[in-house]
Amino acid sequence: MSENQLETIISERIRRQGRITFCDYMAACLYEPGLGYYTSPGRKVGTAGDFYTSITVHAAFGRVIAREIARMWRSLGQPIGFTLVEVGAGHGRLACDIMDFLAEREPDCYAASTLLLVEQEPSLAEAQAALLSVHGQKLGWRSPAQLSELRFSGVLYSNELLDAMPVHRVVMTAEGLREVYVTLQDGQLAEELDHPSTPHLEQYLARYGTPLLVGQEAEVSLAGLAWLEAVAASLEQGFLLTVDYGFPKEELYTPRRRQGTLLCYHQHRVEDNPYIRLGQQDITTHINFSALMERGAELGLTTVWFGEQYRFLLTAGIVEEFEAIESADLSEADKLKARLTLKRLIMPEGGMGDTFRVLVQSRGVERPQLGCIRGIGL
Ligand SMILES: C[S@@+](CC[C@H](N)C(=O)[O-])C[C@H]1O[C@@H](n2cnc3c(N)ncnc32)[C@H](O)[C@@H]1O
Repeated sequence: MSENQLETIISERIRRQGRITFCDYMAACLYEPGLGYYTSPGRKVGTAGDFYTSITVHAAFGRVIAREIARMWRSLGQPIGFTLVEVGAGHGRLACDIMDFLAEREPDCYAASTLLLVEQEPSLAEAQAALLSVHGQKLGWRSPAQLSELRFSGVLYSNELLDAMPVHRVVMTAEGLREVYVTLQDGQLAEELDHPSTPHLEQYLARYGTPLLVGQEAEVSLAGLAWLEAVAASLEQGFLLTVDYGFPKEELYTPRRRQGTLLCYHQHRVEDNPYIRLGQQDITTHINFSALMERGAELGLTTVWFGEQYRFLLTAGIVEEFEAIESADLSEADKLKARLTLKRLIMPEGGMGDTFRVLVQSRGVERPQLGCIRGIGL
């Protein structure tokens, strides 16, 4: 019997009901109540956690997004009611950096704004409320299930949300597409291939993928599409801003990535085995931005801008953040340290600057005046 409680639960489940899809396995590893990676206590992001996100690098990331949010508010005609929704808000750091910036530099936009936080793990609401206490009057919470019932005008944004959603894994064989299932062999978790559990996998690849070569593995995020559909239903007018690592379909499903993009993170080390440390390591995949753009267009969302994080930040306001460091009351050594930290956010060639991409979509906005649009062709 395994000492890992989550492994015991998953193994029992397989004994009882038979093999499960990799997607169900990943969902349990990340979100099993009380035991999943994101639903159990402990720091996940930052130095004491398993990986860094842009948010944990420097507040400038949130401040630049806030500059763009203020431009979005102006593009909507400076409405007196402006709703911000952050999905996958974690501990609330990004929300706090955004609200602090708006309060300090964009008071009219701040006065018009309310902020709703949506997080799969409800216990994080306490940490979010504490961090955002000065903005408490403006703050509200919704569960992921309530998202599709919401109707709002404003901006829905997320950072590293979709890469944390469970995916189906498929392999192209000489006999056709097969799906990865998780089963038990001699009492141990093991993979087996069989016909896809749902026709949606082939349909997804036909619409939002590229043809796979025999032997090529890939991931399919039906959860990501379902999320986009819920969000598109809730956004009456305004913008969706999605920051994540991922590619357009040609880069995501290229034969160069024969093994797909699934990776695990534990204490800042990258692993490729999702069957160890169940619930104690992150499991993640690169996201398919083409699916978001193409399905988004079908749902009435216009792609306003898509590109690397460094382009987005450079055109949306990180230069001003560098200037702010120069004029701050800091020692030369601290200024240099701050400049080098900011540089991490925009480092291309494998750094955060081009690993991460930004997608801005809109509904019902005639002429969006955004910093990132200014940057096309840079
Ligand atoms: C990789 S973490 C990113 C946290 C934070 N946005 C950051 O960048 O540091 C992903 C977060 O999304 C949350 N999450 C996953 N699926 C979600 C969903 N459908 N709705 C809301 N939150 C979700 C997880 O619980 C987790 O806190």
